[in-house]
Amino acid sequence: MSLRTITQIGNTVRADSAPPTITNVLKLDSKAELDALAKRLLAPAASIPPKYFYDEIGSTLYNAIVLTREYYPTRTEAAIFERFRRQIAAVIGEGKQFVDLGSGDSVKAEKWFASLKPSRYVAVDISETAVADALARLSGLANAPDLCGLITDFSRVLDVTPVAEKKPSVFFYPGSSIGNFMPDEASWFLRQIRAHCATSDCGLLIGVDAKKDKARLDAAYDDALGVTAAFNLNTLNHVNGLLGTDFDVHDWKHRGFYNEAFGRIEMHLEARRDVIVRIRGEARSFYRGERIHTENSYKYAPDQFRALLTEAGFSDVHLWQDEGGDFNVFYAR
Ligand code: AVI
Repeated sequence: MSLRTITQIGNTVRADSAPPTITNVLKLDSKAELDALAKRLLAPAASIPPKYFYDEIGSTLYNAIVLTREYYPTRTEAAIFERFRRQIAAVIGEGKQFVDLGSGDSVKAEKWFASLKPSRYVAVDISETAVADALARLSGLANAPDLCGLITDFSRVLDVTPVAEKKPSVFFYPGSSIGNFMPDEASWFLRQIRAHCATSDCGLLIGVDAKKDKARLDAAYDDALGVTAAFNLNTLNHVNGLLGTDFDVHDWKHRGFYNEAFGRIEMHLEARRDVIVRIRGEARSFYRGERIHTENSYKYAPDQFRALLTEAGFSDVHLWQDEGGDFNVFYAR
């Protein structure tokens, strides 16, 4: 028999039980990750994967980006969720396991609890602190679902089997994070979700940013306050801490722009002058103007993304949009 303490808080009665279980499968391969990072920096066309944006300062800066006047995706998606929440919930159905991919502080997911009444909430993220803090907060809610966490890098392999139960589920992937994959990776990622769905009644609720005019997209990724610039540049400090490299932020500038031919935002760090950086005992020279590619953010026309979902094996696809057609929310099963 498990022991539960009943606590009276105002009018709310809450049951305190054991803290939610958090399973970490990330630590196992961190050495290989760092080797891969060093290799990418030493390559002729240097790059840093976007997951290295998100140390403590980077995550704080990201939270500030979404508040900038220019960065419309987060607030537009939130407005679509608010406006259509009941309609969307009716399509999904109540009582499912809610698998939150890239859960962060879990605030977006929590807004669905009242309408979807999930039986179980699985927070999946690369940051253990973020998941621990979020689950601690959620466990204080009245009528909280069963809570558990999975710490993993699902940009490599999406395997939620260590924690997710084989039961009807909704996978939640908001914020147009799918845009940070190359289209073939995005398609592979969607297939993996579809494979998880093959055995039970499952669906995917996903937010996807739309193509739009270049000036708006350029501004969204190069805001006037320089928040996105700081977010991008901070990656160099993060990498210095992880690899012992000696990047000097002063030597680099932020580049963020829409590449219309590829239908994607590109973010780069561009050398302001010729610089030499020590990377794992090797001297890597960067010439003035040379770039380190740090992120792609693909934008999809609604039909283009619908086709990706269909190719991945989803057959029943629903779409909700804001009035301007800036952002798309799909539920697919
Ligand atoms: C997390 N991701 C969806 C953001 C995006 O818009 O691609 C990351 C970001 N990069 C710069 N600003 C925001």
